Amino acid sequence: SLQGKQTKMIGMIVPNITNPFFAELVAGVEQTLADDGYRLLLCDADRDSDKEHRYLQMLEANQVDGIITGSHNLGLEEYQRVGLPIVSFDRDLSDKVPIVTSDNYHGGCLATQALIDAGCQDIYFVGNPSKTGNPTTKRFLGYMDTMASAGLPSHTARSAFYESPLAKSMAMRELLQSDRKLDGVFCSDDLTAILLLKQAQRLGIRVPEDLKVIGFDGTKLVQTYLPELATIVQPIGDLAALLVKLLYERIADPDKHLDKNSYVMPVKLLRNQTI
Ligand code: RIB
Repeated sequence: SLQGKQTKMIGMIVPNITNPFFAELVAGVEQTLADDGYRLLLCDADRDSDKEHRYLQMLEANQVDGIITGSHNLGLEEYQRVGLPIVSFDRDLSDKVPIVTSDNYHGGCLATQALIDAGCQDIYFVGNPSKTGNPTTKRFLGYMDTMASAGLPSHTARSAFYESPLAKSMAMRELLQSDRKLDGVFCSDDLTAILLLKQAQRLGIRVPEDLKVIGFDGTKLVQTYLPELATIVQPIGDLAALLVKLLYERIADPDKHLDKNSYVMPVKLLRNQTI
């Protein structure tokens, strides 16, 4: 691709563009690419493998110089078949593809410890830890280990990432209405935390007096519109910059041996009014 055949186009595949985390990541990637004279072809795979397949074919047909993907409905083989330089975010594709993530495990520990420090004892994790290696699962493991170290029992309420916000809200409403002891919730992302806060408000449960809540992501959007939410902040701008840098390296030398394939970026606890 260094023989004058570059199209100066990069493809990016995300799981869900309406989520502010992915929107902010895309904005960061697009800005850096634009500064360097590249154009971005954005594909919202919508967690649909057929769609992801068609998008991959489209990127191939457009002869993009490389691909950034965070949606892995498709396995490594499909990506390898396309034979383009590729970098991945959030989800592991293979040890041959560089992956950039936040320190999800440590974030899970920080969030749980913040609830414990605030006096919580009956803390639920709300999220959908499923596939090994996905970000939610790492957050969940951080939660489990921190609860165990504190000698506290752990509890999980699954709220599938794939489910609609309505289904999530109903599940959380049931949890809040049940007679289970519950004084703190670690939600696997901020949007889930917002749904939970809404249900608590409807039920007259006071936050943080009766219930403490912390989320994960810390997007600018949520911090602007719900500045009281405690959360774990992912360094979204840094994630975007690193993804682009690694992709440029792959484009310059696609066969370069990877000394390191996993890049884990630090997260920060944002203490706030909900804890
Ligand atoms: O809110 C979207 C979530 O999906 C983010 O936390 C991101 O890291 C991914 O797991």
